[in-house]
Amino acid sequence: MNKIVTLDEFIIRTEKEKPHSSGSFSRLLRDIGIAAKIVNREVNKAGLVNILGVDGSTNSTGDDVQKLDVFANEKFIETLSYSGEVCGIASEENQDFIPIQTDKNKLAQYVVVMDPLDGSSNIDVNVSVGTIFGIYRRKSPAEGPCQLEDFLQKGTEMVAAGYVLYGTSTLLVYSSGNGVNGFTLDPSIGEFCLSHRNIQMPVAGNYYSVNQGYYLKFDLEMRRYIDHCSDLNYRLRYIGSMVSDIHRIMFQGGIFLYPNTRKYPKGKLRLLYECYPMAYLIEQAGGTAITCKLERVMEMDIHALHQTSSIAMGSRDMVRDMKEFVEKYGAVIQ
Ligand code: AHG
Ligand code: MN
Ligand code: MN
Repeated sequence: MNKIVTLDEFIIRTEKEKPHSSGSFSRLLRDIGIAAKIVNREVNKAGLVNILGVDGSTNSTGDDVQKLDVFANEKFIETLSYSGEVCGIASEENQDFIPIQTDKNKLAQYVVVMDPLDGSSNIDVNVSVGTIFGIYRRKSPAEGPCQLEDFLQKGTEMVAAGYVLYGTSTLLVYSSGNGVNGFTLDPSIGEFCLSHRNIQMPVAGNYYSVNQGYYLKFDLEMRRYIDHCSDLNYRLRYIGSMVSDIHRIMFQGGIFLYPNTRKYPKGKLRLLYECYPMAYLIEQAGGTAITCKLERVMEMDIHALHQTSSIAMGSRDMVRDMKEFVEKYGAVIQ
């Protein structure tokens, strides 16, 4: 029988291999795992809203029922605040970053960026949602509170990134720059167990994932590329949660697109806590992540916490083909 390797055990083992490891990064990742389990418990109950009460109402025990994205945000913030390793958090749910006061004798070195609940429109209909996170080392002096500069760092500066997929199983997938590993939550023992070691995504595939309803709002080159996918009988899959959509192509190969539209001329997805972490993982798994203007996502400049970007990421050869379409049709005036 194979020995089960839990997330905690895996983190401790891999961090130990790094010289001068203080264990603080391991503790931070472990705390993310704990927050994910708490959110998972609540996501599993989401189908019971009609029994337990809908958002904004008061449930049978007199508590206010929260929206799940607000709940997830609070749980991650709470858990990370107590961890002692994090001096600040930037979240999709908060306009400004949240400084965290830590013990003066123990200086927290990290900041976390996150989308606590991705694909929130799926919750009410029992479809997969996710959490996305990225971790940076702080840049400002360790003795003082964290600063905006700690968060406005390019993807190339990230020290780790990951996502949690609350699907038919709950999976935590993360990388700290040395390959991507996936852990499936075993509900019977309440542990994330190593289930997908050193994930390498297929170099090509036949899935494309884009909101085709916006087709007429896309630039010509993207329309031509989407036509090409359709001509080749690629399979269109679009869940509306980038975690779920990217998880599919991570394992089966494909391309995920969220181009700029007339409504969102600079794309819709958020660079800091959606695009960078997913690009980090895709690159670590051997894929490619670029904008629809063909810049490498990880090297994009960042000026604001909630800055958006267009995105095209996935299997190496498919992104290369898309790039050719942009080069061929991109300059044509429509
Ligand atoms: P969130 O629920 O965190 O706001 O993110 C939803 C995002 C992303 O996950 C998904 O791919 C995209 O928005 C869906 O947007 P459209 O409905 O415009 O396609
Ligand atoms: Mn999101
Ligand atoms: Mn969200």
